Amino acid sequence: MENFINNLPKAELHLHIEGSFEPELMFKIAQRNAIKIPFNSVAEIKEAYKFNCLQDFLDIYYQGAQVLQTEEDFFDLTFSYLQKCNAQNVRHTEIMFDPQTHTERGIPFKTVINGIVKAQEKAERDFGITSLLIMSYLRHLSEADAFKTLEESLPFKDKITCVGLDSSEKGNPPSKFKNVFKKSMEIGYIPVAHAGEEGDADYVWEALDILKIKRIDHGNNSLQDKELITEIVKRDLALTVCPLSNTALQVVSDLKDHPLKKMMQLGLKVTINSDDPAFFGGQVNTNYIEIQKALNLSKKNLYELAKNSFQYSFLDTDTKQKYLNELETYYANNK
Ligand code: HPA
Ligand code: ZN
Repeated sequence: MENFINNLPKAELHLHIEGSFEPELMFKIAQRNAIKIPFNSVAEIKEAYKFNCLQDFLDIYYQGAQVLQTEEDFFDLTFSYLQKCNAQNVRHTEIMFDPQTHTERGIPFKTVINGIVKAQEKAERDFGITSLLIMSYLRHLSEADAFKTLEESLPFKDKITCVGLDSSEKGNPPSKFKNVFKKSMEIGYIPVAHAGEEGDADYVWEALDILKIKRIDHGNNSLQDKELITEIVKRDLALTVCPLSNTALQVVSDLKDHPLKKMMQLGLKVTINSDDPAFFGGQVNTNYIEIQKALNLSKKNLYELAKNSFQYSFLDTDTKQKYLNELETYYANNK
């Protein structure tokens, strides 16, 4: 089964580039930039990666991102993730980045995006991996701040496909960002948002009805509300589920209790993703492997999950079809 998963062509649709920052690379970049971090070794960093909730994690995640300063740093971070994609047969990835985490501490928007885009271009040349960008607004900051970021993104509009919403969910409902999402859509960005990770089903409703999102990040708590489930199925919106993130942040107490299979049975379109792989104990393939074991998923289930990952990506129709054909051939030969 592991072999089947490792070679399965797939897309990753929920990945924070800052969350792919491995301790080894963090140390290297901190030294290169002569920045002091409050850890003496990679082992100490790893020891700190124990969380009780989303906020615990975010505090460490934002701290780690502070060492990123130059375009080269953002290139190295992104290319390192894309090399891992190549090793896992991730054929396409939709990468979230948090500009405000960097612009707030004086790093220009262009430094961040130019480094990321150069790595995307190299991965496409070297490995044939396609990727696109989701610019995520930090929901613990104000809507005015998000508007500022939207403004800064305009010269790079053609490099960005979507806007997203991440960071501390509770107390920061989607409705707080109604106007900036409306404006982002008018500019041509596709809206997605984290909803129902720690927030309740009413946050998912707001993301659907007020932000008009085209995909739901996490969405676990949608299961609280039958009407909402029916609505998500009707609107044909996918959920980007992140199993190891859910257990690391105690959104789900044990993988065996993970609602993924139930979601599939309810007709929800689910995908498997790593979220913040450097922090939560595994890349996307480890997420597939662990959830397969915990829920005894069949090869057909895994094929469906990979199929959703291409189907609900924001790729153009032809590229999507090319990957779906690749997946069909793989499944026909390996089922
Ligand atoms: N949830 C909210 N914000 C985040 C996450 C997450 O899982 N990862 C990085 N920022
Ligand atoms: Zn996330």
